[in-house]
Amino acid sequence: MALKLQEIDPENDFPALAKCLFESYEDPPQKFFHVFFPIHGTGDEARNEAIKEAADRLKLWHTHDPSSYWQKVVDEETGKIAGGALWNIHQQNPFENPAPSAPTWFPDDGSRRFVEKALENHSRPRAQVAQKPHLYLFIIFTHPDYRRKGVGQQFMDWGIKKADETSVDFYLDSTPYGRPLYEANGFTYLEENINIPKTENPDEKWKEIEDKVGPFTFWLMCRPFSAKKSSEAE
Ligand SMILES: CC(C)(COP(=O)(O)OP(=O)(O)OC[C@H]1O[C@@H](n2cnc3c(N)ncnc32)[C@H](O)[C@@H]1OP(=O)(O)O)[C@@H](O)C(=O)NCCC(=O)NCCS
Repeated sequence: MALKLQEIDPENDFPALAKCLFESYEDPPQKFFHVFFPIHGTGDEARNEAIKEAADRLKLWHTHDPSSYWQKVVDEETGKIAGGALWNIHQQNPFENPAPSAPTWFPDDGSRRFVEKALENHSRPRAQVAQKPHLYLFIIFTHPDYRRKGVGQQFMDWGIKKADETSVDFYLDSTPYGRPLYEANGFTYLEENINIPKTENPDEKWKEIEDKVGPFTFWLMCRPFSAKKSSEAE
């Protein structure tokens, strides 16, 4: 099976990437995924609508963020997308003048307040240690049909080379499923981030999403740049 790493085609790839993203995070299901990519409602129609919204939003994020770089791994026999990765190549400190953005993928009620807090909590540990140019792996997924075939490793190989070439640290926030891949690549764990959004007066919509998502844990991990390691690899 030939699985090839490529840069995406932003005009055409987002619908298929978004579908692969959903299928990857549904198997096994990860509750936090709802914070970033919600399904509003139930049934196939609501899910298809959510995938379409995700595709449109990912394209918008990509075209408006100069740090955004998307890759895919394609099964050359079938043309199917086997996995994807969204990188942020931060050439400046991204936390100095963060662009204000509301999570408009939720209605303007308690659910959006919950997600605002969750996103703030999510980036806090990195904001404390990465106030400098760095490489960030924001999203990575391999479709369940293609796991343990080296797809994730192809993304990691690219990221490690990129970080070394540009002399920057490489950060990511890991789910429990990602951690073996990152540990196999020499990443060290910096901080456990148990995300429990808090408010004084939770309304019904806040409580609804809180019940659905629950507390969720990520681990901030890093592969620090080392001039020595980088010259040894040459
Ligand atoms: C994490 C994920 C991207 C790994 O992708 P993958 O393409 O299956 O990983 P690879 O085949 O490239 O694995 C490379 C190495 O990482 C380690 N590894 C990857 N998945 C592993 C697992 N489930 N258990 C143990 N080790 C694992 C192994 O060392 C593996 O090498 P090996 O297969 O020769 O033993 C995939 O499991 C996934 O999409 N999970 C759901 C979404 C998710 O949680 N993404 C991570 C967000 S931080």
